Amino acid sequence: MRAFQTLTSRTHFIDLITTKYSQIHTGFRSTNHLLIQESSTVSTVYDPVSDRLVTKRVSNSKHSEAESDKSAHKQSNPDYADALKDDRSYGSILKANQGFGASKKKSKSKSTWVCTECGYTDGQWWGYCRECSNVNTMKEFTESDNGGKTSGFQVSERIVKSWLPKGSGDAFPMRLTDVNRGVNQSEWRFPLSGPFGNEVSRVLGGGLVPGSLVLIGGDPGVGKSTLMLQIAAIIADGKEIGKPAPVLYVSGEESVEQIGNRADRMEISTEELFLYSSTDVEDILQKAHLLSPRAIIIDSIQTVHLMGVTGSAGGIYQIKECTAALLRFAKKTNIPVFLIGHVTKSGDIAGPRALEHIVDAVLYMEGEQYSSHRLLRAFKNRFGSTDELGVFEMSPCGLKAVTNPSEIFLSEERSDSEFLAGLAIAVIMDGSRTFVIEIQALCAAGSSLSRQVNGVQAGRADMIISVLMKQAGLKLQSNAIFLNVVSGLTLTETAGDLAVAAAICSSFLEFPIPNNVAFIGEIGLGGELRMVPKMEKRVSTVAKLGYKKCVVPISAAEKSLRGLDFGDIEILGCNNLKEVINTVFVPR
Ligand code: TYD
Ligand code: MG
Repeated sequence: MRAFQTLTSRTHFIDLITTKYSQIHTGFRSTNHLLIQESSTVSTVYDPVSDRLVTKRVSNSKHSEAESDKSAHKQSNPDYADALKDDRSYGSILKANQGFGASKKKSKSKSTWVCTECGYTDGQWWGYCRECSNVNTMKEFTESDNGGKTSGFQVSERIVKSWLPKGSGDAFPMRLTDVNRGVNQSEWRFPLSGPFGNEVSRVLGGGLVPGSLVLIGGDPGVGKSTLMLQIAAIIADGKEIGKPAPVLYVSGEESVEQIGNRADRMEISTEELFLYSSTDVEDILQKAHLLSPRAIIIDSIQTVHLMGVTGSAGGIYQIKECTAALLRFAKKTNIPVFLIGHVTKSGDIAGPRALEHIVDAVLYMEGEQYSSHRLLRAFKNRFGSTDELGVFEMSPCGLKAVTNPSEIFLSEERSDSEFLAGLAIAVIMDGSRTFVIEIQALCAAGSSLSRQVNGVQAGRADMIISVLMKQAGLKLQSNAIFLNVVSGLTLTETAGDLAVAAAICSSFLEFPIPNNVAFIGEIGLGGELRMVPKMEKRVSTVAKLGYKKCVVPISAAEKSLRGLDFGDIEILGCNNLKEVINTVFVPR
């Protein structure tokens, strides 16, 4: 009613719209009054309620309210026409439905009006075609916002399809024997040359697997970009296979000049290393398409985004969709893709941890803030062991592989340790590598502090101290005990128990342990020494490093080490802690 009143009271406004129409279709120009009274059967007017133009049949000026409303609705809602047939009997239901529909959240959609006669397109509905002047030929077409929505899958499919030869996507299940026929598994992986390359290669499980998606995680500033730039250069050089090929290093964090500057400092001057600064995954994959690289590095996954995906770069949806796009890309093209991801101390949910199940391998780079050593650890690896550990040192010109990691875990003052009580050497395994590490203990009599441990699990340290008191008879009750593992390392296996106990004894008895003695073994609650795995490997490592004595559980000396030649190292087999004290802490 309100709409109609507005219409009739604003006759001059109606005139503006209807004049042209009436000129065309009735052939004469009328006054405003006449127009309403006598105009042709169809008239276009503005409905301020629905904020749109509506076409109405205006046979006389006394429209009923219902007719007007129906007409307006009919134009704005095509479904209404059908519902209208039944609105007498189901009026209340119709209203209820309308009410429900109105309360629904409107989906964002864009309407265009197309003339069915001449194809003229308009963004607005008019009662006639403004091109061919036909009436009632403008039909509405709705283009939903979702039409342009992209998912990571769609993007990679689109790009990969345009790249690969037609029909290559029609894959069928294959026999295992057919898949492996003619493939030399040992040559399948891409080798990385040099000491640095070997170190990375080992962590990857023996080389880079074609088509793999590898995530390199780590705290900001730990050296991920440095590591990846060096890996990129090695892959591009392809020294092991004697053929250079392009490698694409994409950074969303730094400009190409900044990366170039870093590469210059690290003395990287590989011809085939291509730098690109972009944050749009679709754009990156298109550029990769043109380059056909041997590998792609994305620095970092938190900075890239996919157009059309909800959320800003770094958000969980963006990260997941971008990774999905890159995963599909890697699998379809066989190009390995490295993703760099920042991990915050709080284990940010939108960080790489959310991606661990999507990618093929997750490597974490770790390092102490004030130490130049960096550890690269495989956390997940679909193509190899997760026990491997790579050790590097950050130098002014990039990362350098540490070929003898044992050296870094021994304190520099080791040569003086002959005069220092409280130091003992443990031999631990991390993956397939053996580490010789130094354990320090300090027993301070009469201190108000009770205990402080670094690098040893507190429960384990308590147990060892209690066993020393009860089973070895050491009066440690009135002592404050401090324990420390050199280089910020954490003891994760029980093979270090004996060295912890020996260090405590050494400090308590103020008896320095000669610096050529190593300790291997687990301690039981009865004070007995127990075997640990890979005894031969541990003993052979300390033998190679020039140690003269190695204290081990008697069972190991009598079984697994019996008959083996370790050079001139003396194997001292002991039953329990008392025997260890009587063997090691005796004045000579
Ligand atoms: P970067 O690779 O940028 O860390 P991330 O990508 O994990 O944030 O390296 C950051 C640190 O490494 C920086 O503090 C400086 C140091 N660095 C060196 O010591 N030597 C070098 O040659 C380079 C390139 C970096
Ligand atoms: Mg970086």
